[in-house]
Amino acid sequence: MSGREEVVRVRDLRTQIDGNVIHEQVDLTAYRGEVLAIIGTSGGGKTTLLREIIGLREPNGGTVEIFGQDVHRLEWREEHELRKRWGMMFQQGALFSALSVFDNVAFPLRELRKRGEHLPDDLVRQLVMFKLQLSGLSADDANKLPATLSGGMIKRVALARALAVEAELLFLDEPASGLDPETARDLDSVLKDLHEELNLSVVMVSHDLDSVAALADRIIILAEKRILFEGTFAELGRSEALEQDVVKRLFKGPRGAAARARMKG
Ligand SMILES: Nc1ncnc2c1ncn2[C@@H]1O[C@H](COP(=O)(O)OP(=O)(O)O)[C@@H](O)[C@H]1O
Ligand SMILES: [Mg+2]
Repeated sequence: MSGREEVVRVRDLRTQIDGNVIHEQVDLTAYRGEVLAIIGTSGGGKTTLLREIIGLREPNGGTVEIFGQDVHRLEWREEHELRKRWGMMFQQGALFSALSVFDNVAFPLRELRKRGEHLPDDLVRQLVMFKLQLSGLSADDANKLPATLSGGMIKRVALARALAVEAELLFLDEPASGLDPETARDLDSVLKDLHEELNLSVVMVSHDLDSVAALADRIIILAEKRILFEGTFAELGRSEALEQDVVKRLFKGPRGAAARARMKG
């Protein structure tokens, strides 16, 4: 992997919540242009890890860099510049129910403007429409209110909102959660197109192995507080990590079939 640009770099991360150790010596690297999926047991600390990577929670030890900058040691101005380059779609990616689709997607852009960014109204409009289109929505959807949208469409709006101004890096926490399998597959294809069209780097958390098998270039297994594996599916197929019970459990069952097929090469 040498020579590839690192977009996210976590080293020796340690997390403790209410006296419980959640992460111990966690290292991970995401490279430009790849889709990296973090999988693991429920309650294993995936969401917390994402929150620490984007700077929403301070880890108890270790470092996090995004685009080579230490997320937890930034000046206001540096943080502002960095914030334009990545976006996050939360698992409970709730939209503002009183705002239209357009205003939901425009919200982070208007926030940037409040912080001094030069973003005239017509540019905001163009960006919102572009993001809606990239997320598989139409101009007609812009004036709708969230309550009138299907689950799949709500996810698409949340995705459009998560695309940063200079969309280079996208974090997704369980993007398909709460969707039926067919709608989840539709969202996977939107994500795949988006990734290819924008050459986005994506760091996603998912327990849906079908979706991970369809999208991810590499995977990270977070369990028992540690990273038990980081690499491609083919590498996992040859890895001793597969002998651990917790890893075996993750991949057994019908939803692991596509992932197991990729492991064989
Ligand atoms: N704000 C918090 N307060 C107390 N416990 C928390 C908090 N956030 C996470 N936890 C605990 O940390 C552990 C990891 O949670 P989480 O990161 O949400 O796991 P995952 O996303 O892998 O399901 C869980 O045991 C959870 O209860
Ligand atoms: Mg979670």
